[in-house]
Amino acid sequence: MPRVRVHQHVNPLAPYYRQAPQPIDVEAAFADPDKPLLLDIGCARGRFLLRMAEAEPAWNYLGVEIREPLVEEANRLAAEAGLDNLHYAFCNAMLWLDRLLDGIPQGMLQAVTVQFPDPWFKKKHAKRRMVNEEMVDTIAKHLAPGGRVFVQTDIEFLADEMFSLFRADDRFVESPVEENFFPVKTEREKAVEDKDLPVYRTMFVLKNRKDL
Ligand SMILES: C[S@@+](CC[C@H](N)C(=O)[O-])C[C@H]1O[C@@H](n2cnc3c(N)ncnc32)[C@H](O)[C@@H]1O
Repeated sequence: MPRVRVHQHVNPLAPYYRQAPQPIDVEAAFADPDKPLLLDIGCARGRFLLRMAEAEPAWNYLGVEIREPLVEEANRLAAEAGLDNLHYAFCNAMLWLDRLLDGIPQGMLQAVTVQFPDPWFKKKHAKRRMVNEEMVDTIAKHLAPGGRVFVQTDIEFLADEMFSLFRADDRFVESPVEENFFPVKTEREKAVEDKDLPVYRTMFVLKNRKDL
């Protein structure tokens, strides 16, 4: 089956992407909603989660992506692979992550990954970047205490910008990592490493409420 063709970028501020998504229904999305949940924001074709769902089935996996045809294709591939611990949602995460995650019971979301988001290089496009203050706040609100946020990119200025946003929020403590500690690499990560280019990574852990 040929890969679905899509635009490389979509403008997250265009009217179509300002529509609110329905909150995730974990009972409908996962066969066993009591498993811990990993959320991958900006998952593209979702292959990282597909491999993770096979490699570590004790978790549930939720991918979020703004390019709708990729979400449809990824859900079809998950169903064909018989994976009932994997679901993808069409959502503009820079505007609507909070609404999407409203359906998730407290304590369930235990890990978040943000991997190689689009840099939107030009200054006039900075407002289109996926990771913003609201997203950091949303993650802090929904993540379980002790939950981890793994962030990686090959674009140095974007790493500085994203890491600074998490560092500025005192609900998180940084726990630096040199390597990707997951058993799977993303498609973009493999492409970057194949070219021997550097990758900037770190991890943040949500403090326990009593430590705040
Ligand atoms: C460069 S790709 C990286 C994909 C994947 N994480 C990887 O590492 O291979 C960035 C992805 O983030 C998605 N994205 C960008 N802005 C987004 C937004 N506001 N909400 C959801 N997804 C977004 C893009 O459509 C694209 O698929």
